[in-house]
Amino acid sequence: MARYARTRGSIALITLTNPPVNALSAVVRKGITEAVARAFKDTQVKAVVLCGENGKFCGGADIREFAKPMSGPPLVPMIHAIEAGEKPVVAAIEEMALGGGLELALGCHYRVAHAKARLGLPEVALGLLPAAGGTQRLPRLTGIPAALDLITTGRHISAQEALKLGIVDRVTEGNAVEAAVELALSVVGRPLAPRRLSNRATPLPADLDGVFEEVLVQVKRRARGAMAPVACVKAVRAAAELPYSRGMECERELMNTLFTSGQARALQYCFFAQRAAGKWSLPNGARWDNSRPRAVHTAGVIGLGTMGRGIAVCLVKAGISVVAVETEEKQLDLGRRAVKGMLERDAKRRGVTAPLHLITFTLSLQQLRDVDLVIEAVFEDMALKKSVFTKLSRVCRPNTLLCTNTSGLDVDELASVTDRPPLVVGMHFFAPAHVMKLLEVVCGPRSSPEAVATAMTMGKRLGKVSIAVGNCPGFVGNRMLKLYLDQAHFLLEEGASPEQVDQALEEFGFALGIFKVADLSGLDIGWRVRKAAGQIGPDVDPKFPSRHRQGRRYCPLPDLMCEQGRLGQKSGRGWYLYDSVGGKEARPDPAISSFLQEYRLRYGISARPVTAQEVVERCVFVLANEGFRILEDGMAAGPEDIDMVYVFGYGWPRHRGGPMFHAAQVGLATVLQRLEFYHGQNPDVPHLQPSTLLRRLVGAGSPPIQQWKQHIRSVHSQL
Ligand code: COA
Ligand code: ADP
Repeated sequence: MARYARTRGSIALITLTNPPVNALSAVVRKGITEAVARAFKDTQVKAVVLCGENGKFCGGADIREFAKPMSGPPLVPMIHAIEAGEKPVVAAIEEMALGGGLELALGCHYRVAHAKARLGLPEVALGLLPAAGGTQRLPRLTGIPAALDLITTGRHISAQEALKLGIVDRVTEGNAVEAAVELALSVVGRPLAPRRLSNRATPLPADLDGVFEEVLVQVKRRARGAMAPVACVKAVRAAAELPYSRGMECERELMNTLFTSGQARALQYCFFAQRAAGKWSLPNGARWDNSRPRAVHTAGVIGLGTMGRGIAVCLVKAGISVVAVETEEKQLDLGRRAVKGMLERDAKRRGVTAPLHLITFTLSLQQLRDVDLVIEAVFEDMALKKSVFTKLSRVCRPNTLLCTNTSGLDVDELASVTDRPPLVVGMHFFAPAHVMKLLEVVCGPRSSPEAVATAMTMGKRLGKVSIAVGNCPGFVGNRMLKLYLDQAHFLLEEGASPEQVDQALEEFGFALGIFKVADLSGLDIGWRVRKAAGQIGPDVDPKFPSRHRQGRRYCPLPDLMCEQGRLGQKSGRGWYLYDSVGGKEARPDPAISSFLQEYRLRYGISARPVTAQEVVERCVFVLANEGFRILEDGMAAGPEDIDMVYVFGYGWPRHRGGPMFHAAQVGLATVLQRLEFYHGQNPDVPHLQPSTLLRRLVGAGSPPIQQWKQHIRSVHSQL
């Protein structure tokens, strides 16, 4: 809806009213169309101001309407009518003008923004482009490079940046609606033709081809295989080369292709999945309505290795006082310097002072006596962690929350050595912890609602996407990752090369192939875990053949790599070769090719050609299959949570929605059939066997992902 009022005698004030963000739903478009027509007709009205209810201009098109048939007046003619009107229209932008909201403002003749407002054309993040003239008007206003930047990245800009780019005419610290009314009164009678952006010629850079070529390379690198950024570039190019009306046709055609694409559906699913994950429930699906989070003012971080440093930085940046503890002076000093450096660099980038006063460094655990919450980030070793938690029980106040940053150890076993099992939860950060958005909050069977709620809220405060997960080996992310890695290793045994597997996965859209990721993280991490689990070393039963453990197929290739000192980037060679120790540029290594040949010869494996399709199906379907098992086990509340773990923590391509959404999009029956096929070929790989939930969903006619929860409940009720 849109409210119509008159102010200062001659100004029509039209207010968009559709909480929470005044999205341009059908009734709002109808309301604006009618109100603008009324204002243009009313002879007493000399100018119009458009604003939004509750101090928010407009959050753009109504994303919920995208899945429904189109109804109500379309946006493009509505904006044209405003722009073509004979009375000045001023947009009063408070808080936000995003997507269609900014396009509406660009159709107005003047724009005033509040200093705190954010503006942007984020459609690309939803797999679309700004299709209400945004790709044609913005370049005419700002020039090509700025328009390309905003439209292809979708980034939000401040009112100050918008002023610099000429997107808004004025910025005010005061009341933006009043400022817009003043501006409207002052421009009555001035010619409107120069203010109509569609009339303007697009300012062109000297090297037009060069600018477009460069940006195309950038967008393809940023989101491999994503269609929308490429379409955005094409639409802006039309603004550079075609008259406005033909540019609009081009914008419409490109939008038609994107709108019905699977990528747009996946990205819109991610938008809502991320918000649904924010309204979390327990991994078994239960909600705790009375779970009030506790206030956290002070926190302890134990261990200043890679993880501890990043965690300390996040906490300080969120305004929490931190006491950081190490075991020896040298490590403490290294940690102190690293944390200070990270905080100072971040502050410099943002033009603020680094909040170094919020952190103290110590060798004494006693200093944690008064903190509200502790995050332990020592080596991934159960015995060591237990000893730390035993000491913490003695040192900390009885109501201090004790959190562990383990990436897969049993949180309940740790809780059992403390005096307060209900106050123990896992907070699994991802490296580098101050950059990566994902936080798995691990709920032990004895963790209290309050402890879980506090950790979830803390995650949000640190700017993370927090997902509540159950306490099982590897939790959600690493439990699935292990099986994905297994498939990649098996493919090497069968005939593939690391670069071939990586290429197939990168073409699918992963930021990095699995072997490049392994080299980056270090192969020794998994080696240590397998040793601790007794899969390597003296505990292995000599009766088992080398390529089997407990009756299941096992691939010793990564162990052999570690034995040869090929640990990845940190040793200058892993699955790839690097220029130096710590080098980043991965090159295929001929030595790996001969190593694999010898290995196959030793075990009598004859190499066969492996297609990209097989790589993607085996790696990606095994992820989804384990995701179904995680849902069956009640270790994640819904498929959206699993998908958000993969999108925010594991470089899964967002335009494919997440492994569970991808399975739904491919078709559950196809996934089931392909898993059956691969399991038939590999009967000693139980994880290729389709899960009960997948079978049940296919049996139920493959319902949409939003309905899976009902079937999960029915699996639970039969257990
Ligand atoms: N259409 C429909 N619903 C929208 C919406 C839109 N364009 N923008 C936000 N919402 C809904 C959210 O789904 C959420 O609903 P919920 O409370 O039922 O979960 C609610 O508005 C609040 O959004 P949220 O993101 O939680 O609030 P925020 O204050 O953190 O962020 C925005 C506000 C507008 C910045 C953010 O929601 C956003 O980026 N929206 C999308 C903007 C966009 O892409 N517009 C172009 C559409 S083509
Ligand atoms: P990660 O990569 O998980 O951060 P690291 O090996 O980089 O692991 O770091 C672990 C850190 O924990 C090391 O700096 C180590 O000195 C520190 N540490 C180990 N035990 C203790 C302990 N009992 N108290 C405090 N710090 C510890």
